[in-house]
Amino acid sequence: MNKFFHVSDIGDINAALAEARQVKQTPYAWKHLGENRTIMLVFFNSSLRTRLSSQKAALNLGMSPIVLNIGQDSWKLETEMGVVMDGDKSEHLREAIPVMASYCDIIGVRSFAGLKDREFDYAETILSQFVQYAGKPVISLESATVHPCQAFADLITIDEYKTKARPKVVLTWAPHPRALPQAVPNSFAEWMGAADVDLVITHPHGYELDPAFTAGARIEYDQMKALEGADFVYAKNWSCPGVTDPSLYGQILSKDMGWTVDEAHMAVTDNAHFMHCLPVRRNMIVSDGVIDSPRSLVIPEAANRVVSIQVVMKRMLESLK
Ligand code: CP
Repeated sequence: MNKFFHVSDIGDINAALAEARQVKQTPYAWKHLGENRTIMLVFFNSSLRTRLSSQKAALNLGMSPIVLNIGQDSWKLETEMGVVMDGDKSEHLREAIPVMASYCDIIGVRSFAGLKDREFDYAETILSQFVQYAGKPVISLESATVHPCQAFADLITIDEYKTKARPKVVLTWAPHPRALPQAVPNSFAEWMGAADVDLVITHPHGYELDPAFTAGARIEYDQMKALEGADFVYAKNWSCPGVTDPSLYGQILSKDMGWTVDEAHMAVTDNAHFMHCLPVRRNMIVSDGVIDSPRSLVIPEAANRVVSIQVVMKRMLESLK
């Protein structure tokens, strides 16, 4: 395995889930794989879970993690090609990437969408430069359009808690005061589309996700109707993906608090579990009552972030041997 961006990179999804169960049961069984190996974790943006779970997984595998916060620990990096570098950015990615790669065996990159230029973001311009210039395996730790480590952890969690062979999973948009990227819902839809679940996506008009990620999903604009009989409710905000009108890309089209997942929403489900990738804005995305209820999976879901990335790192280390 030399990259981890999409569900296709993990291969057979049932084999990946079986491997995740093994890793969760015996996390230190592959400690020999990481001996004398280093992973570079490059953060252009803030993180709690991804940063800590990546380091924990690397340590479980006997690998040394190095964390670099771009612009805080390092020089500010220019990401666009062909520009005159007369601003505040002292170094270009074109040099920084091969230098960082020369110090490690695997690179993980967090680089959010700028939400200004759809073409730049959806081409995964920054992540692609890592692939092109690192010459080492690359993991998306949430890039412009995908968050595969999160989606794999979500799948592991659903697999652990499901009581039906084919559960109904509803991805619902919820309000947020700031414009957020589409990486989490894109990957969630992509991974659920490959899993044995009945996926329904609900959001206000204008929030349609890129069809490249939503194959097999049913889109339902009536949130209550979408939630009926759900086994898992996955709430997330995202800004306008600009599918129907590219000029609206990255904008907030609605702050309708009627979409906040509360007890009335959960009442129409089949006693569903509540999920969110965190960090979450309480009483914007979800009511206190729902997130604090026994049906909330947000903590075990976050804990599974170690498992998902450890499977990926393990496979990459095995490929290096
Ligand atoms: N869910 C998630 O990726 O959390 P962080 O942004 O804190 O890493």
